[in-house]
Amino acid sequence: TPRLLGHALHSQIEMHRAYGGVVPELASRDHIRRVLPLADAVMAEAGRPLSAIDAVAYTRGPGLAGALLVGSGVACALGMALGKPVIGIHHLEGHLLSPFLSADPPVFPFVALLVSGGHTQLMLVDGVGRYELLGETIDDAAGEAFDKSAKLLGLDYPGGPALARLAQAGDPQAFRFPRPLLHSGDLDFSFAGLKTAVLTQVKKLAHARPEGPATSRLADPLTPQQRADVAASVQAAIVDVLVKKSLAALEATGLRRLVVAGGVGANARLRAQLDAACQRRQVRVHYPELHLCTDNGAMIALAAGLRVQAGLADAALHQPDYRFDVRPRWPLAELAPAPGAAD
Ligand code: KG4
Ligand code: ZN
Repeated sequence: TPRLLGHALHSQIEMHRAYGGVVPELASRDHIRRVLPLADAVMAEAGRPLSAIDAVAYTRGPGLAGALLVGSGVACALGMALGKPVIGIHHLEGHLLSPFLSADPPVFPFVALLVSGGHTQLMLVDGVGRYELLGETIDDAAGEAFDKSAKLLGLDYPGGPALARLAQAGDPQAFRFPRPLLHSGDLDFSFAGLKTAVLTQVKKLAHARPEGPATSRLADPLTPQQRADVAASVQAAIVDVLVKKSLAALEATGLRRLVVAGGVGANARLRAQLDAACQRRQVRVHYPELHLCTDNGAMIALAAGLRVQAGLADAALHQPDYRFDVRPRWPLAELAPAPGAAD
C-alpha cells in the first residue's frame, strides 16, 4: 500500500473569505505565487531531491480552468525538465481514493459517497479507474447547501465548518426542514429547495423579534439560540438525506463497505450518524484522514500512484507527453475502461 512521504498545503480560505467566495482570477494568480515554494516545501519534508521523483501528477479537472492551467503548466514543465512522465488526474478520483492513505484503508469493491462543495454523488467503485455513477444531485451540492445556509445565517466563508460549529449548541429538531427526494426511490439528491426553506424560516424568526428584520444582515435579529437551532436543523436535514441515500446505495449494490470522501465528509454529525447506521447493518465505513478530507495534493499524487500500479498509466509512462489540456468539466464516469478492455 502507498504511503505519504511529505505533504504541503496552502489554503486560500483566508483570501476567499475576504471576498465572500472564490474569485477565479485571484485564485489562479495566487496559485502561481504559491506552487513552486510549496513544491520545494514538500520535497524538503520528504527529504528527497527532485531527481527522486518517478512521475509528476496534476489535477486535470474538473474545476476552474485558470487554476487547473497553473497546476498542469507547472507539472508538465517540471516533468519535461526532469525527463519524467506526467499524469493528469481527475479531482474526484483523488477524493475517492484518499482513504487509501489512512491507517484503515478500504478494499475494493465499495460504495463511495462523494460530498464536496461542487459534487454530491454515490459511486460504485470496483477498482482503480472502475467507477459507476449510482446517483447524484440534480441541483446544488451538499457542501453548497451548507455554504448557502451559513451565508443566510451571516456566517463567514467557508460556511460548512462554521455552520457545523454553530449547530453544536442547537436543537436539530427545532425546525423541520425538507428532506428532498428522501423517498424518491432512486439515489439522486436535491438540495436547492433547502436554502429557500432556511431563508423563509430565518425571515419568519427575524420578523417576530422586537428589533424587527434587519435591512443588511437578515439573521442579525435572531437570538444566538435561534441561530444555533436553525444551523442544527439544516445540518440534520442534509445529513439525514446523505445517510438514507448511502444506505439505499449499499442495499442496491449488496455491498457492505462505504467510503466517504470530500469536504463535507469532515462533518462530525454525518460521521456519527453513518457510523451508527452502518454498525447496525454490519457495514464497514472508511474515511480519509481529517486533514485529507478537503482538497489537497496528496490525494492527487496517490491517485496517480495507484493508476501506475494498476497499469492504467502505461501510455503516460511510456510516451511522456508534455502537451497539457485541462478538463474544467469532466464526468468521472468517463474514466471507466471501455467495455471489454483488458484489466
Ligand atoms: O472537497 P472540498 O474541500 O472542495 C471541493 O472540491 O468542493 O469541499 C469543500 C466543501 C465546502 O462546501 C465546505 O463548506 C464543506 O466542504 N465542508 C463542510 C465541513 N468541512 C468542509 N461541510 C460541513 N461540515 C464540515 N465540517
Ligand atoms: Zn474537492
